[in-house]
Amino acid sequence: MPSPSLIDSIYSNKILMIRPRRNRRSSAIRAMVSETSLSASDFILPMFLHEDQEDTPIPSMPGVTRWSLASLVREAGEAHALGIPAVVLFPKIDESLKSALAGESHNDEGLVPRAIRAIKAAHPTLCVITDVALDPYNSDGHDGIVGRDDCGDLTILNDETVEILCQQALSHARAGADIVAPSDMMDGRVAAIREALDSEDFTDVLILSYTAKYASAFYGPFRGALDSTPKEGDKKTYQMDPGNLREAIRETLLDEAEGADMLMVKPAGIYLDVIAKVRETTTLPVAAYQVSGEYLMLKSAAAGGWLDERAAVLESLLAIKRAGASMILTYFAKQAAEWLAAT
Ligand code: PBG
Repeated sequence: MPSPSLIDSIYSNKILMIRPRRNRRSSAIRAMVSETSLSASDFILPMFLHEDQEDTPIPSMPGVTRWSLASLVREAGEAHALGIPAVVLFPKIDESLKSALAGESHNDEGLVPRAIRAIKAAHPTLCVITDVALDPYNSDGHDGIVGRDDCGDLTILNDETVEILCQQALSHARAGADIVAPSDMMDGRVAAIREALDSEDFTDVLILSYTAKYASAFYGPFRGALDSTPKEGDKKTYQMDPGNLREAIRETLLDEAEGADMLMVKPAGIYLDVIAKVRETTTLPVAAYQVSGEYLMLKSAAAGGWLDERAAVLESLLAIKRAGASMILTYFAKQAAEWLAAT
């Protein structure tokens, strides 16, 4: 801290000695003093897929498509060619395959295992991440198995769910997934999945844990994309209260102790303080998920001509990185990589 007399002389003298604007004078100087930069290797592209042969635009997420298997492989290859190191897969499962126990979630011949095999065969160096949670497979639309408590109210059964998540993670690993990403927020699932993977010798498969996943209104467009809105109740007994930060530290310490390789905060842009706190709490790499609602806000403001899309999107991603995320899951991944390549 400058002494009070120095502050006094700075502001009372005619000569202003300290001028922070000198460091912003030219683009060359700004480049030298820049603290944060973006590159395609920071991005992870979330991709939607379905069983159909047709590609279907997703109405709730303009510019985002649900791909057939063949198109998924092509699109993933294009992302990789732009320098994006990883994709994460989100399947839309046919209603007829959904059930209370989500058996399809660990079918070795299911949509996701077939997609993993197809992508890895075509693009072996692209990292394939899978979402581990039951909501696309569960007839109740919840991330876990639904039970009833003594009052007849809906509860999500933790330990029963974790057993199924382990089966799901194994079926992804058998198909060749590089990273499994549990997004369900059940207690103890990281340790259980690690043990299950290791028991089948998948010691090299990473776990990217959704460590601090909040019960957010900003997932709305995503649930529209997958038809996965809960039929009853909400996700507040497993996803976190948006007002809580200390709880994110608690989840961080647990996931680290349970053997997670990477941690995630979700959503990203309106939870920058959580990203910063998780970053300072752990030595593990931290990812952040710019979710469907964040995407839609930027997209619709740009479509209305109210925001400069390129500038606003890159700024939103830069802010997430500045807060402490070194990996950003974003639906803008390809577009942003193209913009960065053009500058
Ligand atoms: C579910 C899952 C969700 C998202 C990723 N995995 C939705 C939810 O928890 O309800 C949301 C992603 C987004 O909004 O972009 N396991």
